[in-house]
Amino acid sequence: MEQATLAPLHTLAPLPYAEDALEPVISQRTLAFHHGKHHRAYVDTLNKLIPGTPFESATLEDIVRRVGRFWEHGAIFNNAGQAWNHAFYWNSLRPAGGPPPSAALARRLEADFGGVAQFKQALATAALGQFGSGWAWLVLDDGKLKVIQTANADNPLTLSLKPLLAIDVWEHAYYLDYQNRRPDHVRAVIEQLLNWQFAEANLER
Ligand code: FE2
Repeated sequence: MEQATLAPLHTLAPLPYAEDALEPVISQRTLAFHHGKHHRAYVDTLNKLIPGTPFESATLEDIVRRVGRFWEHGAIFNNAGQAWNHAFYWNSLRPAGGPPPSAALARRLEADFGGVAQFKQALATAALGQFGSGWAWLVLDDGKLKVIQTANADNPLTLSLKPLLAIDVWEHAYYLDYQNRRPDHVRAVIEQLLNWQFAEANLER
């Protein structure tokens, strides 16, 4: 009997905006490679790795939360983490000119960082201080907003924190546009592209 071909469990969602929507901060060329090649490769590799493992039927978020306990499945963790992180990252950004933080979010940033400007500085410090590849995050930790950094594919779910916003500081996120000038990229993203509404929606989830 011919075996039915199953659709892959994990798929690459389209970007939530056009590839050129984040210019000039992030070029269309960078987004095309970053989403169409890098993010796609994590998803495709994950789909090749999971058949026959305990993660075959798990959701992406479930894999990220559980797989760290299985040292022998490090490749699954890396690809699942990166697939999840990138989907979250695309939504952490929005074209320039969007609304500022709501009054409610601004109050929380004031309470936990001293203000919106101080939060932006903390996020920049985390993004610039991450040695090598990784991520900077705004998270909710026991009711308090915090900024953290994670290496490689790690993310706040593995630390039982609620992620609110992410910035990708792997070189592939900026090298075509900024070469080694990570600070210029990070500051432009933080000043112009943060999706405050996404952070607010995550807070309420
Ligand atoms: Fe990336």
